[in-house]
Amino acid sequence: MTGPEPVEVEVGLGARSYFVRIEAGLLDRAGKRLEGFARNGRLVIVSDETVWALQGERLAAGLAASSIEAVPILVPPGEGSKSWAGLSALVDRLLVLGVERRDHLVAFGGGVVGDLAGFAAAILKRGCHFVQIPTTLLAQVDSSVGGKTGINVAAGKNLVGAFHQPAEVLLDPLCLDTLPPRQLRAGYAEVVKYGLIGDAGFFAWCEAHGEALVAGDLAARQRAIAISVAAKAAIVGEDERETSGRRALLNLGHTFGHALEAETGFSDALLHGEAVALGMALAFRFSAERGLCSDGDAARVAAHLASAGLPTRLADAGIEAEAGRLVAHMAHDKKASGGRLPFILARGIGEAFVDSSVEMDEVERFLAAEAAQQAGRP
Ligand code: GLY
Repeated sequence: MTGPEPVEVEVGLGARSYFVRIEAGLLDRAGKRLEGFARNGRLVIVSDETVWALQGERLAAGLAASSIEAVPILVPPGEGSKSWAGLSALVDRLLVLGVERRDHLVAFGGGVVGDLAGFAAAILKRGCHFVQIPTTLLAQVDSSVGGKTGINVAAGKNLVGAFHQPAEVLLDPLCLDTLPPRQLRAGYAEVVKYGLIGDAGFFAWCEAHGEALVAGDLAARQRAIAISVAAKAAIVGEDERETSGRRALLNLGHTFGHALEAETGFSDALLHGEAVALGMALAFRFSAERGLCSDGDAARVAAHLASAGLPTRLADAGIEAEAGRLVAHMAHDKKASGGRLPFILARGIGEAFVDSSVEMDEVERFLAAEAAQQAGRP
C-alpha cells in the first residue's frame, strides 16, 4: 500500500477504552480487525441504502477475505431513520437475526447510522457491543468517537439516547472519495472546530492545507482526521459524560447552529456542518463584540470557513428570520437550563471556553445587528 502511514488513537476510558484506527484502504482489510468480533462467521452490519450501494461491496469483500459473512440491515438514508419508528424496526430485525448480548453490531455509514445503530446496541437485550465504521467526514472526526448515541423525537433532535462506547472505530479516509462535495465541506467545519477550540497551530495548518483536503489530497485528509480524532479522544477521556464542561467545548458553534437548523426545519437547506460553520463564525463575532477576542481573529475564522465554501453570515444560509425567533429556538436546546444556555465563546483562536453568563437578550441584540448589517448589503 502506498499512502500515509496508519495511525491509531486510543480513547482512554478505563475498562471502556478503545482504539480508533485510521488507515487508507482499511475497509478492504476490515476482516482482519474484526475477526475477534464475528460469531459463527457472521457480522451484522447496520448501514443505509446509499452507503451500502457505494461502499458495501468493499466492506463485504474485506470481511469475506477473513471468512466473515456480512449480514446487512439497510435503513433509508436521512434523519428520518433516527426515529422511534426507525429504532423499533431495527431492534426487531436484530432480534429476528438472533443478535445476542455478547455480539458486536457494525455501524457502517454517517452520523445517522452511527447514532441509531449505537443506540440500538445500547438497549438491545440491555446492551450489546458495536463497532463504528464511519463513512462521512463529519462522522469520522466527530460522531463516531465518544459514545453519544440516540434518536430524534417530536420535541427535538437527539433528545433520547445513551452514552454507549464502541468497541473499536475503523476510519478509512478512502470512503470520503464517494462523499458529495457539499457533505465533505460540511464535515470540514468540524475539523476546523478542533483548531478553534484548543489548537491555534492546527487552525493555521487548516488555513494552509484545507483547500487540498477538500480537493481530495489523501495525506491532508488523513492528517486532519488523525489530529481531530486525537483532540476529541483527549476531551472524551477527560469528560465522557459532559459533566465537567470540557466536553461541552465540542459544542462550539452548535448553540447558534442549532437555532439555525431549527429555523431551516433541520432540512437539507442547511446541513449540520454548515450550521456549525455559521455558528462558529457567529460565536467568534459575538466573542469579539464582548471584548473577549480581537475582531481580527473573528475575521480570520470567517475568512477560512468561507474559503472552504461554508456559510459565515445569516444571509449566506438564506436566513432572514427575526433575531427573536432564533433566540426562541435556542430555548429548546437540550442544554438549556433555567432559561440560560452555556455558550462556547473564545478568547482567541484555539482558546474556547464555556461562558454561562450570557443573557439571551444580549444574544438577540447581536443577531438583530447581524441580520440588519447584512440586509443593508448590496
Ligand atoms: N459532538 C459533540 C460530542 O461528541 O460531544
